[in-house]
Amino acid sequence: MSFHSIDQAPARLNRSELAVPGSQPGMFEKAAKSDVDVIFLDLEDAVAPDEKEQARRNIIQALNDIDWGNKTMSVRINGLDTHYMYRDVVDVVEQAGERLDLIMIPKVGTAADVYAVDMLVTQIEDAKGYKKRIGFEHIIETALGMQNVSEIAAASKRNESLHFGVADYAASTRARTTIIGGVNPDYSVLTDADPEGGRQSHWGDMWHYALARMVVAARANGLRPIDGPFGDFQDPDGYKAAAKRAAVLGCEGKWAIHPSQIALANEVMSPSDAEVNKAQRILVAMAEAEADGKGAVSLGGRLIDYASIRQAEVLVEKASQIAA
Ligand code: GLV
Ligand code: MG
Repeated sequence: MSFHSIDQAPARLNRSELAVPGSQPGMFEKAAKSDVDVIFLDLEDAVAPDEKEQARRNIIQALNDIDWGNKTMSVRINGLDTHYMYRDVVDVVEQAGERLDLIMIPKVGTAADVYAVDMLVTQIEDAKGYKKRIGFEHIIETALGMQNVSEIAAASKRNESLHFGVADYAASTRARTTIIGGVNPDYSVLTDADPEGGRQSHWGDMWHYALARMVVAARANGLRPIDGPFGDFQDPDGYKAAAKRAAVLGCEGKWAIHPSQIALANEVMSPSDAEVNKAQRILVAMAEAEADGKGAVSLGGRLIDYASIRQAEVLVEKASQIAA
């Protein structure tokens, strides 16, 4: 390991994260009763300009009045380039800061953006005498944000997670796509001709680089990488395929823009019983190997070593968080 140690963000389950527009208070109770891990009440892109102030009032009232149980609660504020943002932070944190766990900052572009919100939140928390510190989740969804993702990830002790905002990212990079989180068949490779002269086209994942880059920045700073929205909520198979790709790369969770996507995210982002059992067997086998003075052994015909312990511990820890 490097001499540089990485502080891990507070351990929270973040398999699913439900987006709920602040302008739709009729959806709040259902969200509170759902199986989602994290809820973000939205003041940004799901809310029309004329509704911003009412949405802010709805969110403040809901944070104070609704029983959200053990859900992690977040509010997505407006961007730093709007005149809504300062009031989003001031009003929500002053009036409902005690039930707020996280603030989601959209379209974050530089470390200085994070610094600015941190300064504001710190003053409000100190003035109100809050004991709990509010954490930050950042949406990486512009070319600038992706370019500066490592600095953003390291910019505040409040940072907890990075989210890939595929819709705005596509707009910002002018990627050729129309469906949120979907893929484009033009991003494909053509196989060589087979003996009959036929060639096949294999679709590629046009989001691979962006997601992988964000995952590295998040993990190098002890943060949770979370995959963003999948717009076609009538396509559970497409959603699961996207969630699985994200999970394989290291993401811990995925957004749900519709309640039907919560169970899909929870399923994909939870380790299976077979995976947990195998991880437990690895830990037992390695403990026995260590007792015999060995650093690597074989289990089920495969080599396991100290790196296997670290992977197995992550899985077992996740399973115990889910069971808690
Ligand atoms: C989320 O905010 C996105 O733009 O995908
Ligand atoms: Mg966005």
